[in-house]
Amino acid sequence: MNNTTSGSGLPPRHISFDILRYNPQDPATAPRMQTYRIEDADSMTLFIALNEIREHQDPTLQFDFVCRAGICGSCAMMVNGRPQLACRTLTRNLPDVTTLAPLPFFELIGDLSVNTGKWMRGMSERLQTWVHTLEPAPDLRKIEARMNPDLAEQIYELDRCVECGCCVAACGTAQMRQDFVGAVGFGQIARFRLDPRDVRNDEDYYALIGDDTGVFGCMSLLACHDVCPKSLPLQTQIAFLRRKMAVA
Ligand code: SF4
Ligand code: F3S
Ligand code: FES
Repeated sequence: MNNTTSGSGLPPRHISFDILRYNPQDPATAPRMQTYRIEDADSMTLFIALNEIREHQDPTLQFDFVCRAGICGSCAMMVNGRPQLACRTLTRNLPDVTTLAPLPFFELIGDLSVNTGKWMRGMSERLQTWVHTLEPAPDLRKIEARMNPDLAEQIYELDRCVECGCCVAACGTAQMRQDFVGAVGFGQIARFRLDPRDVRNDEDYYALIGDDTGVFGCMSLLACHDVCPKSLPLQTQIAFLRRKMAVA
């Protein structure tokens, strides 16, 4: 960036990023912090800042992105200890020095890049996150039948999850047990439980999440609710599922 002044007419601010670097594929390397300094700019996101660093200072820096619009969930990372999406984080809201680290819990690919997809796939298969019908070849007219708009809205609300992993990275229970389904898993169960096309009942859901790897492992820490970049109603859904599963 070659700005000599910021949009306010003041000299541009310089910001530093202390980034945890580690390549688990190279046993000769050890985790280390590396500092990069750039000039801040109006409307710059953390995603843009990282691209600038990779383009002009260090092509080896690893991080993920696809959509740049808060939709794909792939750019989640720890920003000063809090999980958030790099593409939705404005650098003007960051302090002069920001620490970046990969999301904990997920398999590290390198630097800020983690394999959330692998864990999400496993969670999805385990919780069977698809509409279950009785017929092997369901009647598509029934599947596409008009749904009550309020109910459709509630389902849509939960469908906004982008599987970024922030809720799992922030959760104390998840840090202690890899088999915990996390708030993202609870959100999925809540979504299919609402769906009138799904024939599963609460006993079926109890078999999926009625133990310490599910709702009874949740300690109501609620960090998941605080960090979800899509502001999903996780607190309400988890409390509801706990009540339902306790009587299932
Ligand atoms: Fe991300 Fe929120 Fe979905 Fe968790 S529930 S994976 S924080 S969008
Ligand atoms: Fe974890 Fe959220 Fe429960 S942070 S302990 S899943 S309330
Ligand atoms: Fe897709 Fe950030 S790049 S959510």
